[in-house]
Amino acid sequence: MDILTTLLLLVHLIPMSTAKDGSSSKSRKRILPDPVTEPRVADPVYEALLYCNIPSVAERSMEGHAPHHFKLISVQVFIRHGDRYPLYAIPKTKRLDIDCTLVANRKPYHPKLEAFVSHMSKGPETAFESPLSSLPPFPNHPLCEMGELTQTGVVQHLQNGQLLRDIYVKKHKLLPADWSADQLYLETTGKSRTLQSGLALLYGFLPDFDWKKIYFRHQPSALFCSGNCYCPLRNQYLEKEQRRQYLLRLKNSQLEKTYGEMARVVGIPTKQLRAANPVDSLLCHFCHNVSFPCTRSGCIDMGHFKVIRMHQIEDEKERREKKLYLRYSLLGAHPILNQTISRMQRAAEGRKDELFALYSAHDVTLSPVLSALGLSEARFPRFAARLIFELWQDREKPSEHSVRILYNGVDVTFHTAFCQDHHRRSPKPMCPLENFVRFVKRDMFVALDSSGTNYYDACHMEGI
Ligand SMILES: *[C@@H]1O[C@H](CO)[C@@H](O)[C@H](O)[C@H]1NC(C)=O
Ligand SMILES: *[C@@H]1O[C@H](CO)[C@@H](O)[C@H](O)[C@H]1NC(C)=O
Repeated sequence: MDILTTLLLLVHLIPMSTAKDGSSSKSRKRILPDPVTEPRVADPVYEALLYCNIPSVAERSMEGHAPHHFKLISVQVFIRHGDRYPLYAIPKTKRLDIDCTLVANRKPYHPKLEAFVSHMSKGPETAFESPLSSLPPFPNHPLCEMGELTQTGVVQHLQNGQLLRDIYVKKHKLLPADWSADQLYLETTGKSRTLQSGLALLYGFLPDFDWKKIYFRHQPSALFCSGNCYCPLRNQYLEKEQRRQYLLRLKNSQLEKTYGEMARVVGIPTKQLRAANPVDSLLCHFCHNVSFPCTRSGCIDMGHFKVIRMHQIEDEKERREKKLYLRYSLLGAHPILNQTISRMQRAAEGRKDELFALYSAHDVTLSPVLSALGLSEARFPRFAARLIFELWQDREKPSEHSVRILYNGVDVTFHTAFCQDHHRRSPKPMCPLENFVRFVKRDMFVALDSSGTNYYDACHMEGI
C-alpha cells in the first residue's frame, strides 16, 4: 500500500498537459487540440473547463472506425471515474455544498438516470468481489462525502456507455444478444467513485443487464499491477519525479506569493494550506460553478486559481522534457499493458470470452499508461476520460490482427511509440497487433535504456 499512498499524493501534483503550446513545439504532434477553436497560448481557464468535461451535446468520436473488410474482435476500455467531490477540504472555510443524490430535476441529466438508480438498487452482493460489495452502487448523500461521485459523474459515464453501445453493440455486434457472463471482464479499484462509474458506464452500455451475468473484480492497486507490483526502480523514478516537481515549484515566486495570499485569506500557515491541496477543491468549485471560498479576511479568487493552474501547465511541460515520469510510467504501466496484450492475443486466437473488458480507474492509472504508450502530449485525464484498445481482424487475411487506440474518442494509434512511423514503413491501413506486442514485451525496456530485457530485471536494475 506504500506506493499507493505515494501515488495518491502525486494525483493532483500532476498537472494537465497542454499540447496546444504551438509556438514552442511546432514539431510535436498534436493529439487533442483543435487548431480552429483552441486558444493559441495556454489558457488555464480553458484547460480547466476541458478537465471538468461538463456533459453537453454528444461529441464526435472515432471509436469503431475501420476499413470495411475488418471485423471487430475485442474491446478494452480504461476509464477515469467521473466528476467527484474534492478529496481534501480547504481548512477553515465553509464546506462546499454539493448534493450527491441523483435526481431528475437537476442538471446535468441523462434519460436513463432514474432507471439506473432503480436497477442499481437491485444489485446483489454476488455481483461484486469483496470488499466491493460493501460499497454503495450509486452516490446518495445530500451533502457529498469526500471523493464521492456526483450526478455529473454518473451522467458522464451513462453517456460514455451509451456512446460505446451505439458503436460496439449496435453497429459492430461485438456481443451477441444473449451475451454470457464470461464475455465481460470488469475490474475496479476499491473506491465508491470508481465502482459507481463502472456501473454507470456498464448500464449505458448494456441497459437493464442481467445482474446474474455481472461480476466486478477488485483491483487493490491504482496501477492495476495485480501480482506484479513490486518494482523498486519504479519507486525511485517516482521519488525523483516528485523532487523535480518540488524544485520547479520553489522556482515559481508568483506561485509562492499566491499560496501566501490564500493562506492569509484562510488564516493558516502557507505550508498547511499547500498540504491541503487547495486546487483540488477549487477545481470542484469551478466545475460546479460555485464561487471560490471567502472568509472575513477576503476571498480566494480566479487570479489565484489561474496562477496555480498555470503552474501545473508548466510543470507538465517540464515533466515531458525531463522524462523521469516517462521512466516511471514504462515500469508502472507494464503489468497492465502486458495484461492488455495477453487479452488481445487470446481473442486473436479465437477465444470468445472477455470480448469486452472494462477497467474503472483513476488519473494515476491512465496517466502512466498514456505516457508509456508515447502519448505524452495527450491531455491529463479529465473526469470520465476513456482510453480504448480495439482489436480488429482482417477478413481478407484472417490471421492478421490490428489494434486501434482511442483517447476520449480521438484516434491516437499513429501517435503511439509503436505505430507512429507505421504509415511511412507499411502500406497497411491499420496498426498490426505485433507492433504493440513487441513494444510491451521488448521495446518498453529498450526505451528505458535498461540492460534488462524483461520487467523483473528492469525493475531491479541498480541505482539511477
Ligand atoms: C454560474 O453562476 C452564475 C452566478 O451564480 C450564473 O449567472 C451563471 O449563469 C452560471 N453559469 C452556468 C454555466 O451555470
Ligand atoms: C505478462 O503476461 C504473461 C501472460 O499472461 C504472464 O505470464 C506474465 O507473468 C506477465 N508478466 C508481467 C510482468 O506482468
